[in-house]
Amino acid sequence: MILTGIRLDNFRNIAAANLNPGRQLTLLYGLNGQGKTNLLEAIYLLGTGRPFRMAKVPDLIRQGAVKAAINGQVHTSGVASEITLELEGKNRRIAVDGKTINRPAELHGKLASVVFSPDDTTMVKQGPETRRRYLDRSLYSCDAGFLRDYHDYYRTLKQRNSLLRSGSTSGLDAWTEQLVDAGIRLMQHRAAYLDRLQQLFQGHYQRIADGRETVELNYCPDIAAGTDDPRKHFMQQQEQCRASDLRHGVTGHGPHRDDLTFLIDGRALKTFGSQGQQRSFVLALKLAELDHLQQSLGEPPIMLLDDIVSELDPERIYNLLSFLRQREVQVLITTTTTVAIDPGMLQESSLYRVNAGTLTYEGSVPR
Ligand SMILES: Nc1ncnc2c1ncn2[C@@H]1O[C@H](COP(=O)(O)OP(=O)(O)OP(=O)(O)O)[C@@H](O)[C@H]1O
Ligand SMILES: [Mg+2]
Repeated sequence: MILTGIRLDNFRNIAAANLNPGRQLTLLYGLNGQGKTNLLEAIYLLGTGRPFRMAKVPDLIRQGAVKAAINGQVHTSGVASEITLELEGKNRRIAVDGKTINRPAELHGKLASVVFSPDDTTMVKQGPETRRRYLDRSLYSCDAGFLRDYHDYYRTLKQRNSLLRSGSTSGLDAWTEQLVDAGIRLMQHRAAYLDRLQQLFQGHYQRIADGRETVELNYCPDIAAGTDDPRKHFMQQQEQCRASDLRHGVTGHGPHRDDLTFLIDGRALKTFGSQGQQRSFVLALKLAELDHLQQSLGEPPIMLLDDIVSELDPERIYNLLSFLRQREVQVLITTTTTVAIDPGMLQESSLYRVNAGTLTYEGSVPR
């Protein structure tokens, strides 16, 4: 999967810019606050219909402008296509090869990307919601069908909660049954995905950290498994909580309370892992996601490495970039300094300077 060109109009602080990423490595460098991450955000947005940083549509439109547009040319399985995204007011319109699509899920497999940014490392320390969001997003990017089950569950949860808030018990049993059925499907997706990710993840961590410590990534469902009839178990849990759910006006237990546990040498990464170990852990997770996406899409997604120098030392950057090159992954990096990048690699990359929302092309090797 290759992005050959992207044009931005009135996106964030970028009035107008053209970027033609190299086949392998593209470096976007510049001082703080110039628009580097905005460029990566535009690429991610074009591939998924949603930004990787929390933002509402109007935040994405350049201040003072009425609408924003992103236009990208991609090569997927050797086939060229064009994706266009227009943002106006609170609305977005997405088109593939000039044809408007109704759901972002239809973008699936056109321009898949994996982001590694300083914000990701905070997932280790933050609450379960951040990790759940990460898990569901990565699940969605490799399996468009997941979204239906995800929405089923959260829609049912919302309905059940509003019934609980009203204090009425009429229809509650039917909503509980629906919640349990949808919840089981959601949990199965999450468990199966983490199962597949575990081995890939451990392999990457050992490579990054030279195998000094053992790591584990576990699914921690709110409705504990450990029974051969998960539906019955889930139902029993809901029955036990029925009175307190009615009292609080909210569904107390279910996959909306799921979490992931990150362990290093059997202990919590959050409290026992160093900063560097936490970063390596998240990077290994992202690389596992990349592997998994490659397996399900049949070609590697694009890797977007935001502010890489603040995350990794020069040696780890070198190892990471060598690995990605060997895997033929197209990589876009943002950085405030090119010093930490190996000179040989720098020479082989497309270099763009980002300054106050403008892009200046500064060279590349012949492709
Ligand atoms: N809708 C918008 N309209 C105009 N400017 C915006 C909009 N949204 C964000 N910005 C501006 O974009 C800039 C931030 O861009 P970005 O996050 O890409 O910076 P960066 O180059 O990645 O910086 P850093 O190195 O600090 O991460 C800020 O100056 C911010 O004010
Ligand atoms: Mg940035």
